[in-house]
Amino acid sequence: MSAPPALAARELSKRFADGTLAVDRVSLEIAPGEFFALLGPSGCGKTTLLRMFAGLEIPSGGRVEIQGADMTAVAPNRRPVNMVFQSYALFPHMTVAGNVGYGLSVARVPEAELRTRVAEALAQVRMEDFGARMPDALSGGQRQRVALARALVKRPLVLLLDEPLSALDAALRAAMRAELVRLQRKLGIAFVFVTHDQDEALSMADRIAVMDAGRVRQLADPRTLYDAPNSRFVATFIGKANLFEARVAEHAQGRIRIESDALGTVVLGGGPGVLGGMGAAGGRVALAVRPERVAMDEDEPEAARIFVRARLVEIAYYGNETEYAFHGPTGARIVVRRPNAGGGTRPSAEGDERWLSWRAEDMIVLAD
Ligand SMILES: Nc1ncnc2c1ncn2[C@@H]1O[C@H](COP(=O)(O)OP(=O)(O)OP(=O)(O)O)[C@@H](O)[C@H]1O
Ligand SMILES: [Mg+2]
Repeated sequence: MSAPPALAARELSKRFADGTLAVDRVSLEIAPGEFFALLGPSGCGKTTLLRMFAGLEIPSGGRVEIQGADMTAVAPNRRPVNMVFQSYALFPHMTVAGNVGYGLSVARVPEAELRTRVAEALAQVRMEDFGARMPDALSGGQRQRVALARALVKRPLVLLLDEPLSALDAALRAAMRAELVRLQRKLGIAFVFVTHDQDEALSMADRIAVMDAGRVRQLADPRTLYDAPNSRFVATFIGKANLFEARVAEHAQGRIRIESDALGTVVLGGGPGVLGGMGAAGGRVALAVRPERVAMDEDEPEAARIFVRARLVEIAYYGNETEYAFHGPTGARIVVRRPNAGGGTRPSAEGDERWLSWRAEDMIVLAD
């Protein structure tokens, strides 16, 4: 028998007293040692879900399990989890060591053990030399590390992190990402990491649950979410996508014929991953293609590709890459991205016309 999940939500819901349904029947399992991200727009229920895991919010329905045991009715301080909050306020009148050891002293852990564990937790976040400092004499990144140590000192089985990097500037945030992943691998405990930053989730997590309006829309590893999103919402929330509204004309024998105003008739074959669950003839779908998959050519592309003639309307420079926005024949907006270090001729002036094209297998069909 395999080990039970480190943490599980079973049909977990939260409706607040004012009627707001913040979390709506969420079911998911987080494996021991997994780096798991909850990703979604502001207000989608990420913090509420995390607070139910921690026991700080009482569910309106469903269960929370930790290592296979029902924890729904267990008090927060009796759960083997700990949480790093969105605003990781430290006690300003206590030293770093005092902050980290506070929870243990409340729990009446003997002085000698307390000191050993505080030292261990500070070492884990590479702050062993800062125990005597006061919080206002620390940088933002150092304060963040102390907040982490404060959560780790209780040796939780699962660490819940609510946007722990959001208060840091971009460079520090990038450095802390790598550090958090290293720490998680070293500790071997499950991390549940809340963010609304897709790059953060994609670069750090083993798996990501994409949430919208209290529900999990898709749960998968980063590559699957990007290459095979299951809905318009996920396709546009994770990365950029060009979407074309379309209609299923025929769906038989593993092939699907789709009519779209912008692209005309598109015939796609392919695995069950692409076509599974696709609507029958007459169903509305969207066709999606990622901006980096679109070629820009002066010559007409070969017939096997999907192509449109389009006019450049906007160029946006991003340092590492450039984004070209085109208008297609039916007014469709099509965005193309190219790394600036790459070669190839590029349109340079608004009004330039190009053939935009991509392979049929680069199309993602979205039924939802
Ligand atoms: N105590 C409360 N009473 C009523 N509604 C609440 C309460 N706390 C949160 N909500 C509502 O529940 C929904 C989910 O809130 P939550 O804080 O979980 O979102 P979030 O995904 O963490 O957002 P953000 O990214 O902005 O932190 C929101 O509509 C919010 O206004
Ligand atoms: Mg939140």
